[in-house]
Amino acid sequence: MSKLTLDRILQSQGFGTRKYCRGLVEDGEVSINGEVVDSIKTSFDTTDFEFTIFEEVWRYREHVYIVLNKPANFECSRKPSHHPGVLTLLPEQFTWRDLQPVGRLDHDTTGMLLMSDDGPFIHAQSSPKRHIPKVYVATTHDPVTPELIALLLGGVQLHDEPAPLAAQTCRMLGDHQIEIVLEQGKYHQVKRMLAAAGNHCSALSRVAIGELALESLGLEEGEWVYLDAAQLALLRAVADA
Ligand code: URA
Repeated sequence: MSKLTLDRILQSQGFGTRKYCRGLVEDGEVSINGEVVDSIKTSFDTTDFEFTIFEEVWRYREHVYIVLNKPANFECSRKPSHHPGVLTLLPEQFTWRDLQPVGRLDHDTTGMLLMSDDGPFIHAQSSPKRHIPKVYVATTHDPVTPELIALLLGGVQLHDEPAPLAAQTCRMLGDHQIEIVLEQGKYHQVKRMLAAAGNHCSALSRVAIGELALESLGLEEGEWVYLDAAQLALLRAVADA
């Protein structure tokens, strides 16, 4: 159990500096169970702690773990250059908390983007040593052929890689669509593998990470959700396997 004063709680949840958070409390902006609390003298047990600020209810979270259904034309970079960053789709408290994408998607790639402010979690989920499968649906410019699938499964040589890279699994979904599962997360990997196999990726979406499918989260593009304990356990189980 950890006990914290309200200003420290607000600061830890991304509401600003300690001084600013103290001001929010003293200005009567924070209430607990419907009662305004305007003193920072009392400490509160943070377990399942809920507070209301600016008329919005927040639950204390030691760390944030979310999935965003990323739309096209948003950059995962912390310093986006040509398009808005994905953090602009999320509450500004997440920027203060230093929420980061777990691995990146290209600006034009849509779909499942895991984000967290838990360093060891980010490291475990993005480490190439863990071989966490990522499932993509790629639309191809030229028709999908059995040869294309065979090449992607057999391995294609990318020019800056020491050895050919192969899909873990790959199957045809339609005349111009494949599902491809990768264990690595190399730069532009799906697009470069398709190009190396003689085709071209015209649209790309990530639909699952490990055992967690984007579809199971029911998110429209641009929407996000906190992951619950069971969903996190699914992700962690694959990373620890
Ligand atoms: N492979 C790509 O080419 N782009 C992505 O965004 C993800 C995987």
